[in-house]
Amino acid sequence: MNTVDLTFCLKGAQPVFLRDTVMYLATKAVRRLPPSVSHRLAIKILKYDLLPHPVLKFDCLSNNLWGINFSNPVGMSAGFDKECEAVNGLFGMAFGFVETGTVTPEPQPGNPAPNLFRLEEDRALINWLGFPSRGLEKFSDRLERTVKIRKGPTGANIGINAKTTDPLEDIAKCAERLSNHADYLVVNVSCPNTPGLIEWQTPRGVERMLAVAREACLRAGKRAPILLKLSPDLEMYNLEPIVSSSLNAGVSGLIISNTTVSRPSELLSENSVKCGGLSGVPLASLSHKMLCCVSKITSGSIPLIAAGGISSSQDAYDRIRSGASLIQIYTALIYRGPQLVAEIVNGLARLLKSDGFSSISEAVGVNYC
Ligand SMILES: Cc1cc2nc3c(=O)[nH]c(=O)nc-3n(C[C@H](O)[C@H](O)[C@H](O)COP(=O)(O)O)c2cc1C
Repeated sequence: MNTVDLTFCLKGAQPVFLRDTVMYLATKAVRRLPPSVSHRLAIKILKYDLLPHPVLKFDCLSNNLWGINFSNPVGMSAGFDKECEAVNGLFGMAFGFVETGTVTPEPQPGNPAPNLFRLEEDRALINWLGFPSRGLEKFSDRLERTVKIRKGPTGANIGINAKTTDPLEDIAKCAERLSNHADYLVVNVSCPNTPGLIEWQTPRGVERMLAVAREACLRAGKRAPILLKLSPDLEMYNLEPIVSSSLNAGVSGLIISNTTVSRPSELLSENSVKCGGLSGVPLASLSHKMLCCVSKITSGSIPLIAAGGISSSQDAYDRIRSGASLIQIYTALIYRGPQLVAEIVNGLARLLKSDGFSSISEAVGVNYC
């Protein structure tokens, strides 16, 4: 958009249009900065809750899962607010829930920079961050401080230290410390950037991880729902046994999916050769296929959360129809800006209505692929 277009847009503009135009331009400007700098800037802006708050209320979008009320099904995916600093700023953007973390028990720097790359032409990112974390103590204090003031369900995604000698103990420590402050916990066994972590994605591995997390929550006196986040790179023949074993271990829900180490052949950007997990539009079909498989296996017995390349209300609605009760976004926000959240929420209400559904739960899984 050039200056002439902009002047034209702003003349006689409606407040919402004006706000969205400014946000669009701001998002474009922020994307000119190096990815890690623009991320830090976004966290600061949200920490001080400086963005406009769209007012949205659609009864048809609210849903009760695990005894928790979600005002809408659109969530902030893990990895954006790793340190739990921006929770209420994110709710102000119209998110229905926020997942903080991944947090590790001990502070660690993560992988050396550069570790985050934009793939502009592909509307994608590759990250090789490796769980940078200021550690469980500080994270837990910040999460606890949000309990009384936060405006919606807030999950904590828990992981292991790169140099750990006891991954099960890492998960237990995080679960015990956070279960009283988080509305739900996510055991992350699917990040491709932490050595040895994805090796826990076996039937026996997930069973042990979930068991220690559950025992730790009980020790802390809380039965927080425990979810598991899976990788889209799992071979299909492994998926069924892993999901079955998670169900046997009492998992409360599954997040499908994390980033992929695969590189779809259609990628155009030079940065597609970088190491790490790919997210955004090129991940969408892989994550959606996996969601369909998991929906078939679980057949509605536990709630599923869809993540991976969701960038429009139609994408979100398609995942809901394929079995997701909630959806999460991350990469699309980088390209489309904060107004995307309200756009997806509004669009979802419209799509539900046009298909004759009076609530989101009626649409969950109607396609069952
Ligand atoms: C920069 C970046 C950092 C991420 N960090 C984490 C993380 O710490 N823990 C996690 O479970 N997922 C992490 N993810 C994965 C996202 O939560 C999400 O599952 C994935 O990006 C797919 O969604 P998207 O295509 O909407 O981005 C990260 C993703 C990105 C782009």
